[in-house]
Amino acid sequence: MAKRIKIGLIGCGMISGSHVNGYLAHPQHAEIVAVCDTVEANAKRRHAEVLSGAASRAETAKTDAEKAETAEAREQLKTNAALWAEYADNGVKIFSDYNEMLKECDLDAVSLATPPFVHEPATVAAAKLGKHVFCEKPMARTATEAKNMRDACDAAGVKLAYQSGGTCLDPTSYAIRDYVTSGKLGDVYYGRLTSYRVRGRPNVDMFGFGRWFLNSVYSGGGTIYDTGVYEINRSIYLLGSPQPATISGIAYRGMSPEYTGEEINDVEEHASVFVRFTNGMSFTYENGWSSNMAGQPQGIFIFGSKGSFSNDKLFVEKGEWDTDEQGNRRRYRENLVETPLELPDMSFPDKFRDFLNACNSDTQPVSNGDIGLKTTEIMSGALLSAKLGREISIEELYEIEALRAEPIPGWHIP
Ligand SMILES: NC(=O)c1ccc[n+]([C@@H]2O[C@H](COP(=O)([O-])OP(=O)(O)OC[C@H]3O[C@@H](n4cnc5c(N)ncnc54)[C@H](O)[C@@H]3O)[C@@H](O)[C@H]2O)c1
Repeated sequence: MAKRIKIGLIGCGMISGSHVNGYLAHPQHAEIVAVCDTVEANAKRRHAEVLSGAASRAETAKTDAEKAETAEAREQLKTNAALWAEYADNGVKIFSDYNEMLKECDLDAVSLATPPFVHEPATVAAAKLGKHVFCEKPMARTATEAKNMRDACDAAGVKLAYQSGGTCLDPTSYAIRDYVTSGKLGDVYYGRLTSYRVRGRPNVDMFGFGRWFLNSVYSGGGTIYDTGVYEINRSIYLLGSPQPATISGIAYRGMSPEYTGEEINDVEEHASVFVRFTNGMSFTYENGWSSNMAGQPQGIFIFGSKGSFSNDKLFVEKGEWDTDEQGNRRRYRENLVETPLELPDMSFPDKFRDFLNACNSDTQPVSNGDIGLKTTEIMSGALLSAKLGREISIEELYEIEALRAEPIPGWHIP
């Protein structure tokens, strides 16, 4: 019987509601026992939401149990109703300091929904006390921080999952990864990923987001850290987790309408990145919060010697040679055929359940610290390369990553 994982939620702002719902949806696998936020009102709001969410789910499950069509379904609903009802008796503790929470609460895991600048210290503190970590995206501001997180969790033997929107937990992603890594697509040598919004800058075109989004000291970066991160993460998963070797990036800020607020805004609104991986593959990423571009296909495009993926569509090359009367090859007639992708006959958990399963087994979460680290190397490396105006290697990134925080003459994004 899998252990019910006791969760402490750290950070009770906008996205933490999805963590509350995510764990409440799995009453037999998780129990939220504490919430923590430096802002008392935020912690109290989520605290109330955990209790009211559990109570209303308990009521609904009790009613549904009476109408259940099978004895098994009835038992399941009754069990869940009892587990949700326990929240009223057990209560949920409130903290303003996560170190206190880690010390005082009997936790198995923490769920991090703070801005990125808190991800590394909180993850390392939790790992040192033997707690598993589910971390919001982006995993960290820098590759150095992400590496500390991955290494701390590995050293402690705890699992590190990070939120990537569940973009890898579906049959299509599984099947694409299988095609790419098994050689069915031939030699996979290149890929391209394009994702942009016409206007979608938090606190510039759309309001109500934490002010930290525009300040690199807190966020690590702009569009690439906010939205590009999902796609880069997915590409690393689909390609079979290759290791980036060198990175070349450009970044831009200055789209209309301009930011008129008084807070610091020093992050990029567009980034283009070229990555060479150690296995010989290379990839181009284009990502924007704000782009005056129409009519361009968006998504992921993977080039192999036997076929390709254009988003979820598989194309296999089935051409043949024209020959002359003596049988000599004269011309190759290409025939790129859209071919149905064979999907696996298996179910996929949501991202919270995937994390809970990993906490209870030898498996790693699908979106894990290793993929998160490579994703962060690409994001941080792109912005450092953009700043320096040249390609950098991953080894160099770790040596000079601190330059990201220093002004560089001529670089318009401080
Ligand atoms: N807002 C979104 O749409 C969204 C979507 C997906 C992922 N995310 C990610 O989720 C994370 C949080 O984003 P958000 O939008 O919820 O931000 P937010 O600003 O709304 O909430 C962050 C919360 O963390 C708290 N906090 C800050 N430092 C803390 C500390 N040391 N200890 C405890 N609490 C602390 C803040 O007081 C705040 O309540 C970010 O990494 C973000 O990229 C956000």
